[in-house]
Amino acid sequence: MANIIKPHGSSELNPLFVNDESKRAEIIQEAASLPAIVLSSASAANAVMLGGGYFNPLTGYMSKADALSVADNMHTANGLFWPTPVLNLVESAEGINPGDRIALKDPNVDGNRVLAVMNVEAIEEFSGDEMATMTKQVYGTDDAAHPGVAAFNGQGRICLSGPIEVLNYSYFETDFGDTFRTAVQIRQTIKDNGWSKVVAFQTRNPMHRAHEELCHMAMERLEADGLVIHMLLGKLKAGDIPADVRDASIRKMVDVYFPANSAIVTGYGFDMLYAGPREAVLHAVFRQNMGATHLIVGRDHAGVGDYYGAFDAQTIFHDIKEGELNIKIFEADHTAYSKKLNKVVMMREAPDHVKEDFVLLSGTAVREMLGAGKAPPKEFSRPEVAQILMDYYQGLDS
Ligand code: ADX
Repeated sequence: MANIIKPHGSSELNPLFVNDESKRAEIIQEAASLPAIVLSSASAANAVMLGGGYFNPLTGYMSKADALSVADNMHTANGLFWPTPVLNLVESAEGINPGDRIALKDPNVDGNRVLAVMNVEAIEEFSGDEMATMTKQVYGTDDAAHPGVAAFNGQGRICLSGPIEVLNYSYFETDFGDTFRTAVQIRQTIKDNGWSKVVAFQTRNPMHRAHEELCHMAMERLEADGLVIHMLLGKLKAGDIPADVRDASIRKMVDVYFPANSAIVTGYGFDMLYAGPREAVLHAVFRQNMGATHLIVGRDHAGVGDYYGAFDAQTIFHDIKEGELNIKIFEADHTAYSKKLNKVVMMREAPDHVKEDFVLLSGTAVREMLGAGKAPPKEFSRPEVAQILMDYYQGLDS
C-alpha cells in the first residue's frame, strides 16, 4: 500500500460537504425557510474549498480574532498554522443574530441557489484600521489597484463566523465537470494510482514550455510517482485567460508531451487572491490536503504587477517551523529555453549564459503574437498549445 501524506492539522480529512444524500435533501429543504444572505464571490469560494476538504481542518468561517491572528502571524488564535483569513464578510447583518442558522446563497449561479448553511456563532465588525492592517499583512500592500486587495476590501466589514455545511460545489462542478475535483477525490485518485511521492503544479495560466519543463524537472529530481496539475477555476482579473481555454491547452500538452499515466489534469474552485507569498503558503496547505507531497513554487508565484519580489513566495517557506506543514516546496529558478543548450533550463544552472542566450518573451508580447494569429517560437510554446490559444484570441476580435 502506498503511503499517503496526512492532511493539514488532522489525521483524517474532514470535508464540510454533506455527503449523505437524504441529510443533504433535508438541509436543502430546511434552508428554504431560513434567513438568507447572498455571499460575496470570495466567501462562496471559501465555502467550495471547505466543502471539498481543501481547507481542512477548518470547520467554517473564521472569527475576527482568528482572522486578525492569521493575518498577523499565520496562526489562528488557538495555534493552528494557517496563512490567510477565511472569512464571510458582509455589508450588513440586519435581521441576523448570533445563534441563528442561516442559508448562504451563491452569487455566481442563476437564481442564487443555496450553497451552504451556517450556524452563526458571532457577528463582529472590523474597524477600518483593522481591515487596512490585515490587508497589508496578507497582500503586502493596501493599494486599491491590486486586484486581490480590491476584492478583499469590496466585501463589507462585518464578519459572520461559525461552522458551515456545504450543499454543492457552485458552478465548478457543472461548468468544469471533467476538471473540477475535490481534495477528497484527488486523494482517492492518488491512492488508486498507488502514488506516494506526488508533485503538485499550481497554475492560473496556460502552460508553455518553461512550465512543462518545470514539471518534468521536479518529477525527475524528486523521483516522484505522479504529477497533479491543479489549475484555478475561479475568478481572475480582467485579461487572464478563461479556465476552459487553459484547460484545453493543458490537456493537449499532457496528451502529447507527458508519459501516459504520469500526470493528471485537475482544478479547484477558488478565486485568485494574487497574494503572492501568503497565497503560495495557502496553496501548499491545500495541496497537502489533496495528498501532494511537493508543490512547485517558481518565479513570482501567485503574483501580480510588481507587488512582490520574484522569489518572495519561496523565502516565506524558510521561516515556517518544522512540523507546521508537511508538504515540501520544489523551488524553481526562472526557467527558460537556452539557445546554447537547445533545451529549457533553470537560469541559475546556466551561469555562463547572458540574457540574450535565452528565449524570453513578455506576457504582453505573447498575447500580441497570439492575437495576430502568429504562433510564438516553438522554443517558447508547443505548437499544439499555441494553436488553441491563437483560436481563442482571434475569436475575441470577431
Ligand atoms: S500562478 O499565479 O498560478 O502562480 P502561473 O500559472 O503563471 O501563476 O505559474 C504557475 C507556477 O509556475 C508558479 O509556481 C510560478 O512561479 C511558476 N512559473 C511560471 N513561469 C515561470 C518561469 N518562467 N520560471 C520559473 N517559474 C515559473
